[in-house]
Amino acid sequence: MTIAMAASELFPYVKSGGLADAVGGLCKELSRYETTIAVIPLYRSIDRVRFGIKPTEIAFTLELGKKAYDIKIYHAVFEGMETYFIYHPILCDSDTLYESSDNDLRFGVFAHALCVLAADHLSIDVLHLHDWQSALAAPLAKAVYKLECRVVLSIHNLAFQGVFAKEAVERLNLGWELFTMERLEFYDQVNFLKGGIAYADAVSTVSPSYALEIVSAEYGAQLEGFLLHHQEKLSGILNGIDTVEFDPSHDPSLGHPFDARHLDNKRRQKEALCDELSLSDSRRPLLAYVGRLAEQKGIRELVEVIRAVQDAPLNIVILGSGEGIYESLCKTLQRYENVKIILKYDEALSRRIYAASDFFLMPSTFEPCGLAQMIAMRYGSIPIVRRTGGLKDTVADFCDLEGRAPSEYAGIGIGMEACDVETFMHALIKALSLYGNEAMMREFIVYNMNKDFSWHRPALAYLALYRSLNP
Ligand code: GLC
Repeated sequence: MTIAMAASELFPYVKSGGLADAVGGLCKELSRYETTIAVIPLYRSIDRVRFGIKPTEIAFTLELGKKAYDIKIYHAVFEGMETYFIYHPILCDSDTLYESSDNDLRFGVFAHALCVLAADHLSIDVLHLHDWQSALAAPLAKAVYKLECRVVLSIHNLAFQGVFAKEAVERLNLGWELFTMERLEFYDQVNFLKGGIAYADAVSTVSPSYALEIVSAEYGAQLEGFLLHHQEKLSGILNGIDTVEFDPSHDPSLGHPFDARHLDNKRRQKEALCDELSLSDSRRPLLAYVGRLAEQKGIRELVEVIRAVQDAPLNIVILGSGEGIYESLCKTLQRYENVKIILKYDEALSRRIYAASDFFLMPSTFEPCGLAQMIAMRYGSIPIVRRTGGLKDTVADFCDLEGRAPSEYAGIGIGMEACDVETFMHALIKALSLYGNEAMMREFIVYNMNKDFSWHRPALAYLALYRSLNP
């Protein structure tokens, strides 16, 4: 079986969020079993020299909306991952990945070029698309290019759908017959993700809980009815993490690497981090947040609850960058001496925080899967999460377990129904009592560190999904 995996981001070439890690991790694992080819745009920011990206002989012209677009195809094999890159200046030469006013054209060109590449130059059995940026390739593959392959669409975040003015129909040669309520039309606009859902043979999301949530008004972002209509082809497969990359026993960012049998070094990591950040009394529990500072991540609520508990006997560290208003909100916490705010993206520091912290905060308002809670568990930090989406599937509350082991997919932590001051206080009381019970705390840490969060199981689930579809 040959699988083409198309996305707008792919680790290690280009990354702005979890999508890149998820697609990268899945490609790497799938290629152990089947021929797997990634297809992404060749953005200007991608380092052609480092990755050995070379031009190929493949070039073609797309005639879209009375304009011609000359496409060039590049190729690389990096760390065993075979990748084709699509190049057109409109798609690739803008300054940011997505903050552009002609995204319909950019990712429309991407989807067309992907289909031509697949039809004329790759012999594929499965076309696996990710999020709205490649979703348009589903209607194009089925209705325009008539590709004879199975098409799978994965939704990593329904909040982003790729909605554009209906002029895109002509600009991108979509044909007005596709502009209907059952296909691409969405409140008199064109919705790329909706088109993908309509035409894909299977639609997956990145956790079983999120797959159930998105057919409801609360999480459905106005597509709940449409998703409900297509529910028979909708499923949820939990993401994995790269357990070789994220390994506290071999992480070069850590001064004191450790595994589940040598937790003394975890304590040393904590002392070192407290020193580094000038946090006093490293015997206090250390709570951490690492990630984007955005609405979805529950930052507003987090700041409010931290304010409410600032004189409790604990240390808190927040590392991340993001939207201005959330950065300013976080800055208001800087006056508390037991709270450290570091407003930047710093990979090595993030690893040291995962390793040093006792508890890891993830109060997301919604979370399709979430990767940080799995990384935290691998580094022995107990997650405190809002019970939503993938967080609900990967973290079981120790109080609900009553001595039983959690489900196959989950580690042990603390769950919150909401993230208001009262619920958070309750979670904190649980965290403090757990912290006071050294034996139990150690037991949970060891359990989580030994849990298999790798891509092994997800990759097998995707292979089973591909095989279940009729060619
Ligand atoms: C998006 C989602 C996140 C998920 C990631 C990878 O970033 O918000 O929950 O883990 O995609 O699938």
